[in-house]
Amino acid sequence: MKTHIHPEALSALKKFKLPEDLAFGKVLAPIMIVANYVDGKWQDADLLPYGPITIEPTAKVLHYGQEIFEGMKAYRSETHSKSFMFRPLENWKRFNKSATRMGMPEMSEEEFMGPLNTLVSYLTPFIPRRKGESLYLRPFMFATEQSLGIKPSDTFSFMIVASPVGSYFSGGTISVLIEREFTRAAPGGMGAAKTGGNYAGSLISAHKVKKIGANQTLWLDVHKENVQELSGMNFFMMIDGVLTTPPVSDTILDGITRKSILQLAKDSGIPTAEKDIAVNELKQLIKDQRCTEAFACGTAAIITPIDSLVEETGEKVMLKDGNGPMAMKLRNHLLEIQEGKLADTHGWVTLVEPAPEF
Ligand SMILES: Cc1ncc(COP(=O)(O)O)c(C=O)c1O
Repeated sequence: MKTHIHPEALSALKKFKLPEDLAFGKVLAPIMIVANYVDGKWQDADLLPYGPITIEPTAKVLHYGQEIFEGMKAYRSETHSKSFMFRPLENWKRFNKSATRMGMPEMSEEEFMGPLNTLVSYLTPFIPRRKGESLYLRPFMFATEQSLGIKPSDTFSFMIVASPVGSYFSGGTISVLIEREFTRAAPGGMGAAKTGGNYAGSLISAHKVKKIGANQTLWLDVHKENVQELSGMNFFMMIDGVLTTPPVSDTILDGITRKSILQLAKDSGIPTAEKDIAVNELKQLIKDQRCTEAFACGTAAIITPIDSLVEETGEKVMLKDGNGPMAMKLRNHLLEIQEGKLADTHGWVTLVEPAPEF
């Protein structure tokens, strides 16, 4: 699968200026990738200027939500002119797992990585380089077949857009609402797939989070008992000095940051456990100061300390180490690897070859 570079994309790049103030997902890169799946195979990709797309009103994605996406990052450190991606093959594998669950076609490594590398290579000069800054990459695939019948689509589009980003949360720490009314995922469902429907179902809780002045939802399992994850991040706790996180299952997204943290903790001799914790037990452990710290982790948020758990009634339990000493230690360790400043002993960092001069 080739990627055709359109001259309009190069003109758009020449005009682009990276703003100082980035936040998360507000500034969009001026170019994007588009490829179509027709007659049972992926056609060549195009590198185009970022812009609106045309879609049939009856395209299946708009009615039945047959859609998947990924979230990943490219980095450029102060000391390197080249850029790196962090564990991109993990994203490719997860994209295919999501595709399978949603009845969509898989992509070969070359079909996914080829256009991705091309996009990043052209955007390398626009990757912000201050600590914690990066280029967020959003590959996605959606059903384009036009007909109102409920059946899997025969045609799909694959696109990648990008956004130079700073920090996801503007404050240093976050508070989470324990969601006791709705659940996010059920066994046998699609909670482990990165598909829009999981996020659509979580948005009602985001309204509650805003109303109560918290930052994120903490989801429980289908029995409304054990803690699972946040709407776009995995969840960790320090309990009796052990770095603890719920085990991945078909109701939790198998986070790449999560598995990297578990590995880094093991490398540093920090004890770890993957086990279920009931939310009521967790509240008691926090009150007893046995659970001293909690944090959220994901590609977008990196690692962000959680200072408190709140109930809809307004009850709030504060964590003893709400400023997250362990979270910050792990965050720095991870960032130094991602930004190419620390030896990459696990082969997590992939160099992106620069684009030809234009
Ligand atoms: C629901 C959910 N859980 C966890 C994560 C964290 O996954 P990762 O570390 O691979 O970004 C994400 C973000 O992708 C997510 O959307």
